Amino acid sequence: MSKEIKFPAGFYWGAATSAFQVEGGITGMNWEVAAQKGKVPHIGRAADHYNRYEEDFDIAKELGHNAHRFSIEWARIEPQEGKFDEKEIEHYRDVLKALRARNIEPFVTLWHFTLPVWFTESGGFEREDAPEIFARYAAYVSSHIGDLCVHISTMNEPYVFTGQGWLRGAWPPFKRLAVMDKVSFTNPGVLHEDAPQGFVSGVRTYLTVLSTLARSHKAAYTAIKKVLPDAQVGLVKQVIAFSGNWNPLNKLIAMFANYFWTHRFLRRIRRHCDEIGLNYYHCHEYGDKKSYKKTDMGWDARPDRIYDALMILKRYRKPIFISEAGVADSDDDLRGWYITEQVKGTARALSEGVPIIGHLYWSLLDNYELALGYEKRFGLVEIDYDTLERKIRPSAYVYKKIIERGGVVE
Ligand code: BGC
Repeated sequence: MSKEIKFPAGFYWGAATSAFQVEGGITGMNWEVAAQKGKVPHIGRAADHYNRYEEDFDIAKELGHNAHRFSIEWARIEPQEGKFDEKEIEHYRDVLKALRARNIEPFVTLWHFTLPVWFTESGGFEREDAPEIFARYAAYVSSHIGDLCVHISTMNEPYVFTGQGWLRGAWPPFKRLAVMDKVSFTNPGVLHEDAPQGFVSGVRTYLTVLSTLARSHKAAYTAIKKVLPDAQVGLVKQVIAFSGNWNPLNKLIAMFANYFWTHRFLRRIRRHCDEIGLNYYHCHEYGDKKSYKKTDMGWDARPDRIYDALMILKRYRKPIFISEAGVADSDDDLRGWYITEQVKGTARALSEGVPIIGHLYWSLLDNYELALGYEKRFGLVEIDYDTLERKIRPSAYVYKKIIERGGVVE
């Protein structure tokens, strides 16, 4: 028998973006340098969201959204070490005011993958003092926007950032382990000529960077809470939901994978965390031989398994918002189904006691996909990159109906 699951009143519904994937025109940033060297596709003006955010938020409003996640570009705010650009912080204040004027609750991310060049060229997160540098930036931004937002995430997906940058070498700083040349990935990405790292020293640096990121989060959390004691501060973690089939060995491997990918980091920072943002794209069942529908990224389309990712986070007993989950689907023939199943999975976890406060689809707009350029289409809104015209996709209205109904039928 079908049953309707209602989401609580005040539940946050919306979508997410990140600065460099949609804003355009960012300089002094490490991905821009990588693009100039031909290592990643050119970024350019992207969707020009930096200038068109009002128009884009009008669309979000029309689609029924009452929440929106976006990120602040560190390279704009601190273009030189220790020198902050007041004009740019004013810009982001305007962005926040534009959301508030539409009654859309902002979820701000302080750092989403891209970094100022002065920081990366002096070692970036390999620097011993990176936590203090990051905390100084976090404190500056928070003290200037704290009157306009409550939800602040320090960073986006520390494990993806580190894995792509220091193991696989597909993103800056392009350090790759020799053994990665033998692994095949579903997410294509450019592989580089740079000499690979030796296993022991490469893994050591990778683990050190992960640990510096945990310290950086904690330092930023403390700095933000000092200026904004009432803010809800957390971070955004991609959870891959690992599981095993009937075979106990597969179950054991899955347990270890969940520990390494998710709990190892979250356990370190759990006392410096008021809420958790969940990014969900993948699940993996060891021993499962079935094949699934694929998204344009070549990823298995398993939106309902967001349930498993949410259950993995339940033990932290923190409010959880889905900070990203969505599908690359240029024809828009999967997306409506995908969103519906994703919301059903969310509803199921909610009914089993996971404290979920919001669901933000990735992404509001088509955007620059790392490190693939503009071909993959994640947006509720299609962007014509020649004219910058915005066109709302039919699936955006499927999502709107769910929002209006405030629930889904199981
Ligand atoms: C990232 C986004 C990215 C999305 C789709 C997430 O891991 O936070 O920046 O576009 O995945 O690949």
